[in-house]
Amino acid sequence: NGKINIAIDGPAGAGKSTIARMVASALSYIYVDTGAMYRAVTWYMIQHGIEPDEEQEVLQTAQNLVIQLIPGVDGQKVLVNEENVTTLIRSLAVNAKVSRYAQIEGLRTQLVSLQRQMALRKGVVMDGRDIGTTVLPDAEVKIFMTATVQERARRRYMELKDSVSITLEQLEHDIAARDHLDEQREISPLRQADDAIWMDTTEMNTLEVTEAIVSLAQRSG
Ligand code: C5P
Repeated sequence: NGKINIAIDGPAGAGKSTIARMVASALSYIYVDTGAMYRAVTWYMIQHGIEPDEEQEVLQTAQNLVIQLIPGVDGQKVLVNEENVTTLIRSLAVNAKVSRYAQIEGLRTQLVSLQRQMALRKGVVMDGRDIGTTVLPDAEVKIFMTATVQERARRRYMELKDSVSITLEQLEHDIAARDHLDEQREISPLRQADDAIWMDTTEMNTLEVTEAIVSLAQRSG
């Protein structure tokens, strides 16, 4: 069908989801937000008082969860056991803990297998931390997207400042802490795949980044 898969990885707040959504829409592809899956599991565990160090408990519980990402015109909906958790998974409580659950090997195995299934028929733009290295090592286009931690915190701050009471300094601290855990973990740490294209978006706008990726996709398809 001429379709390809596009993997977009990078640290928190680099603009991956905004760009991935725009690229998917330009190409009529499906956007898959893998961070939302780790967030959905985290939200559920917090609800049920299961801590990240209770690995067996986490794994058993996760096995019975039905996580759905439903694309829609006004963005993607995230359901856990049919419950709409789209906004709940963006809370500060989830932010603070998600990288700890994401270190659990068995949980990663489970989510990676789901993610691969979603990409089987190609035509997917998937963003996360380990897409180019682990989930879709054969993706035709791989991007490693980054920006300075100050710029990433500033972008998050602009998104959140009207709804959440948090300072720019707190956000910068949260993002740096999450990056550190994601980069240092043993299983599929955040790193650039050898064949990924490195993009520093600190001084690029979303349209420029989107166009660059769309044109890479068109040349490789
Ligand atoms: O992309 P987002 O910032 O929503 O991801 C939340 C967290 O989920 C990340 O900080 C990381 O710990 C985890 N994650 C991951 N692997 C992915 C996507 C997200 O470990 N592919």
